[in-house]
Amino acid sequence: MASFSANFFFAFLAVQVSGIPTFGSEPRQAATLPSFVNTYAPIVYLHSTEKYFPSDIGAQVANTQPEINYEVVPGAPSPLTLDNLDSLNALGGSSIYLTSKDDTTANPQPEWLIGVIPDSTGKTNGAVSCSIIVCDYGNGTVDAYYMYFYAYNWGGKVLGLNFDDHVGDWEHTMTRFSNGIPQTMWYSQHQDGEAFDYSAVPKYDGGIRPIVYSANGSHANYATSGTHDHTIPGVDLPIGVALVDYTNEGYLWDPTLSAYYASVSFPSGTTPVFAAYDSTTPVNWLNFVGQWGDEEYQSSYLGQYDIFGQYRYSSGPTGPEDKDLNRGDGTCPSGLPDPCVILPFVIPGEKI
Ligand SMILES: *[C@@H]1O[C@H](CO)[C@@H](O)[C@H](O)[C@H]1NC(C)=O
Ligand SMILES: *[C@@H]1O[C@H](CO)[C@@H](O)[C@H](O)[C@H]1NC(C)=O
Repeated sequence: MASFSANFFFAFLAVQVSGIPTFGSEPRQAATLPSFVNTYAPIVYLHSTEKYFPSDIGAQVANTQPEINYEVVPGAPSPLTLDNLDSLNALGGSSIYLTSKDDTTANPQPEWLIGVIPDSTGKTNGAVSCSIIVCDYGNGTVDAYYMYFYAYNWGGKVLGLNFDDHVGDWEHTMTRFSNGIPQTMWYSQHQDGEAFDYSAVPKYDGGIRPIVYSANGSHANYATSGTHDHTIPGVDLPIGVALVDYTNEGYLWDPTLSAYYASVSFPSGTTPVFAAYDSTTPVNWLNFVGQWGDEEYQSSYLGQYDIFGQYRYSSGPTGPEDKDLNRGDGTCPSGLPDPCVILPFVIPGEKI
């Protein structure tokens, strides 16, 4: 009884302390993580033949070096970490590619590109592989972004040829809450995605956590298992040739078990301000505007080719800050798709 009340007292104290705004001090600390962000967090199913698993966000920085036009950026901090990554914004910013120090196409590939297979509880042990970012509009509407990180993207095969393989892969789903109740969800898929009513998407174990199916290799997010046709923007594939994503209930990944938690706000309108929910979450890296993987390899690179204007080895993606974290009225990122259609149902195995 005595220990119960002591624990209760300390829990109470912790809530009080973390609730005090720390204006002017760095790093900024947000108030308290709304509990519904974890309560309704997605459960992710990775494909049963997946070879590239969720990966440690910090390891990506440790295993790469910043480059512009295939040349190392001079004057970057050493070592580069999640705490100083944003200093690259002043050294080239969006032109920068975090480029592997190792040969990414060696056989076998460097271990860090493979990521970590979730354990029996769904945790990626030793790898913080998800960044959960909460945007509270202050009017009852709260958007929770679940940003999934994979060190490598395997793009798939068309006519027996691989393409769109790249280092670094950021994917996300977003859940919009109204007064703590989930309303709608966004599932990112390549340059696009789909929005659904929360009530329409399948739930894990008949409960309240939505299921996200991560496609084999590309890690595009779907609400159903099966085969999903997808086209490449700006690329006309020959008739009868399709680029296909596969999803099934392979490996269970609970991204909340090894994640960084931060809030985002937009006090000046457009520039995001990130704040950690706890003292161990690094946040400076969230401001980095460059790419999280190598630049598309040059034609002279062994094994590089292009078909239909699409390269076998393409460029790494930008990070969470580039996913339109200020969606206001919409569930879809701005302009994608336009208009934002929120589907009241899911269709097994097929994208609409
Ligand atoms: C899944 O991806 C791996 C490579 O990452 C590939 O070897 C395997 O054939 C793919 N599975 C399917 C069903 O396409
Ligand atoms: C809440 O605030 C956001 C940002 O100002 C706005 O876009 C949205 O319409 C508001 N939602 C409601 C339900 O008032």
